[in-house]
Amino acid sequence: MEILVFDDYQGLSRKAADLIKEQVTKDSQSVLGLATGSTPLGLYKEMINDYQHGLDFSQVTSFNLDEYVGLSGDHPASYRYFMEQHLFSQINIKPTNIHIPNGQAMDIERECRVYESAIQACGGIDLQILGIGHNGHIGFNEPGTPFGKETHLIELTESTRQANARFFSSIDEVPSKAISMGIKSIMKAKQILLLASGESKAGAVHQAVEGPVVKEMPASILQLHPNVVLLLDTAAASGLNRALVNQVG
Ligand code: GLP
Repeated sequence: MEILVFDDYQGLSRKAADLIKEQVTKDSQSVLGLATGSTPLGLYKEMINDYQHGLDFSQVTSFNLDEYVGLSGDHPASYRYFMEQHLFSQINIKPTNIHIPNGQAMDIERECRVYESAIQACGGIDLQILGIGHNGHIGFNEPGTPFGKETHLIELTESTRQANARFFSSIDEVPSKAISMGIKSIMKAKQILLLASGESKAGAVHQAVEGPVVKEMPASILQLHPNVVLLLDTAAASGLNRALVNQVG
């Protein structure tokens, strides 16, 4: 695990964009795994900026980590809507190359299998972006989710629903279920970038990096991945043993 610590959110966002740029420049047909939440917003702004300065996303394929069950793609709190608004509508990725689980599928189990197969059919994910929940979840893989799961149906914890209630008009509107790539799907990515910003993530980051690898702390599995970069700001890194970190900005 490589741990890079930046003075601020802008620094980590720019570095994440540089790593994406490197990947897409090396292979124009790269497969990117993308995430939602507030954390990657700075990265997406930088990707849009790179596109405006000539970076070509026309051959890139994307797979998003997760989607709420029951929300249509035009619901403002759906992850499809979020991605369209904050990234896809502002770069030249082809709509047919964009993949997000369909939270309105009639047969959710089938949707999960089809989604997982689509990732493999594209040759797997080259570079996966992750955020981290306060409880250590990655994607929507809540504490206790078996590490062997591929794309699957998740029952959201109350704390995750509370944390995401800010995107809805009330907590009652937050769906109780989601489809998420599983830990096994995430671990198959060739490279993983985990982004975390702010003191509220310091505890989860500390446990994920320095704690035992246990399913109660889903992000701890990343300790076993051969190519992970953690991009943190100083606040998110504040719980870490300083000997582990590389202060770069
Ligand atoms: C949601 C998403 C996760 C994301 C997490 C953290 O639960 N499903 O993929 O990492 O939120 O969000 P934020 O970056 O807003 O703290």
